[in-house]
Amino acid sequence: MADRVVGSVEDRVVGVLGGGQYGRLLSEAASRLAIPLVVLDPSPASPAKQISAVSALHPSLAHVDGSYSNESDIDALAKRADILTVEIEHVNVQALFQLRDRYRTTGGHLGKGIEIFPSPESLEVVQDKLLQKKLLSTSNIPVADFIDLPTPTSESVAQAAKTLGLPLLLKARRQAYDGRGNFLLRDLTDAPRGLRTLNGPIYAERYVPDVTHEVVVVLVRNVKGEVESYGAVENVKSGKIGHLVRAPLRQGGKDVANLAQSLAEKAINSLGDGAVGVFGVEFFLRANGTLLAHEIASRPHSSAHHTIEASETSQYENHLRAILSLPLGSTELKVPSAATLNLRATPESAEEVRSVVRRALATKGATVHLYGKKETPGKADSPKGRKVGHITVVGPSDADVNDRIHQILNSAFSDDPLIPKPPKSHPLPLVSVLMGSDSDLPSVRDAARILDQFKVPFEIHIVSAHRTPTLMVQFCKEAASRGVRVIIAAAGGAAHLPGMVASESSLPIVGIPVKGPTLDGVDSLHSIVQMPRGVPVATVGINNSTNAGLLAVRILGTTIPKYAVAIEEYRVNMERVVLEKGKKLDEAGWTWKLEDKQ
Ligand SMILES: *[C@@H]1O[C@H](CO)[C@@H](O)[C@H](O)[C@H]1NC(C)=O
Ligand SMILES: *[C@@H]1O[C@H](CO)[C@@H](O)[C@H](O)[C@H]1NC(C)=O
Ligand SMILES: *[C@@H]1O[C@H](CO)[C@@H](O)[C@H](O)[C@H]1NC(C)=O
Ligand SMILES: *[C@@H]1O[C@H](CO)[C@@H](O)[C@H](O)[C@H]1NC(C)=O
Repeated sequence: MADRVVGSVEDRVVGVLGGGQYGRLLSEAASRLAIPLVVLDPSPASPAKQISAVSALHPSLAHVDGSYSNESDIDALAKRADILTVEIEHVNVQALFQLRDRYRTTGGHLGKGIEIFPSPESLEVVQDKLLQKKLLSTSNIPVADFIDLPTPTSESVAQAAKTLGLPLLLKARRQAYDGRGNFLLRDLTDAPRGLRTLNGPIYAERYVPDVTHEVVVVLVRNVKGEVESYGAVENVKSGKIGHLVRAPLRQGGKDVANLAQSLAEKAINSLGDGAVGVFGVEFFLRANGTLLAHEIASRPHSSAHHTIEASETSQYENHLRAILSLPLGSTELKVPSAATLNLRATPESAEEVRSVVRRALATKGATVHLYGKKETPGKADSPKGRKVGHITVVGPSDADVNDRIHQILNSAFSDDPLIPKPPKSHPLPLVSVLMGSDSDLPSVRDAARILDQFKVPFEIHIVSAHRTPTLMVQFCKEAASRGVRVIIAAAGGAAHLPGMVASESSLPIVGIPVKGPTLDGVDSLHSIVQMPRGVPVATVGINNSTNAGLLAVRILGTTIPKYAVAIEEYRVNMERVVLEKGKKLDEAGWTWKLEDKQ
């Protein structure tokens, strides 16, 4: 019988197969809601068991030391829990099927039977990469072409290569994770080696050469079939000590993010009613902007660690809410920008990782999670190292988050691919400065100077409403989803650029009338200031791009406090300068000359 906890939201006990980092982070979320959670893992010191003293809450409960592939160990977990879930995919799914039948209405901690989420049916599909691919494909979700190799021989591989071409990917159907279970076959003579390496049931997949980005969508689904998505994120390629995840996705604009989200939802729904809990769907983004679904994970995902600090409800809490039929929490981002550095350590890199962690502790917006992983003698680690922790960095803009990541990684890693090189335009701009032609450059320089002075990340482009209308529309469509918050547009003569930009984008637009060879810029001033109702453009004085820059910084200041502070300083300083000039004039009298002023 259960030991009641006063005021508890849930009396059922959650049993987790696996006690690694995901189990630990699930356990953290459970403890905040006083939800009892027991863990099955071979190691008594596994990351999840370390932080949950479940027996203090429930004297009759204790974690299980055993294997998530062993039937009797899983049974021992089931006797202590009412809801079973997994934090790793490679569990004994046959044991789960039997157990569900055995304990349908009796058994479990409360004696009322046990439930398993995600269902053994959905786990069975996710465990087998070939079944996954087939399901995605029959659900009309684009995937790389693949061929089953039921009898893997050099001949059948050669046959597959005839259809799919070389290089060819050979993939293990099961137990494939962390880069293991893939063999890139460049030449048919390598086939025997590939078959030996993978050693088990495999399939062949067409190699996709033009992948530009990895996109991941993590979502949560409950028993009623309601789905909440955390939105698309970018999985940035690995550096020396791990890989970086950025949220939200900026590549490809809203269209790609929306498409990824709807495909991910379709993928999870295709797993059936039992697909309950958190799932991750990984995609490849190709050079032409199309997406290929790559893999499904049926558990919390490393691409959503940032949701602990950056989202209204973390993926861990939402996983628990989903499997316990509690209301799902909002998945919206609480911050404009976030990134997670997933840390890996080998014995050789352990010291480097430690100094990265120390710098993170001294960095604004950074939160460190270390998993407390112990060395397991006799267990071979992945050559990339073990996942030992992660650091999430949040900030008011992508550029701030980037600076903070840069600070954490330090110049010692300056050749690290995670550190972007400084180009002329900032890669993660908050302000976009547009001009109709290169002859307008002198007129926007002061705006650029101001933005630079206030350390605002910005970009400068030539876009013409008349000569490159398609480019302009494309630019406007993508600007907001790339993280741009204000557009400054300079134009002379008939000056349509600011107005056209305002009609194609919902961002605030600041127009700069540029002085032309005739009419002194009054033509463009009138043209920019006299916008039709419903399409506002903030217009500064003729050729007064300083004010355009300052207005942009003020707009940013409404949501990013540091710019508000800087503008306040600038204003106070300006006031002081004017007062000083007044004092000088008072002292020197009206004969004071302009040249005298300092
Ligand atoms: C499963 O675990 C039990 C005890 O925990 C052990 O006796 C048994 O040998 C294990 N079975 C296998 C197949 O390893
Ligand atoms: C994108 O590129 C791939 C490979 O070149 C091609 O198969 C696919 O049809 C293209 N899709 C679109 C929409 O252009
Ligand atoms: C506009 O202002 C810039 C910088 O203040 C200056 O270099 C440029 O000559 C001005 N253009 C005109 C036409 O007055
Ligand atoms: C900005 O406008 C003021 C007032 O019209 C003018 O005196 C000043 O020269 C202008 N500044 C620039 C850089 O054009």
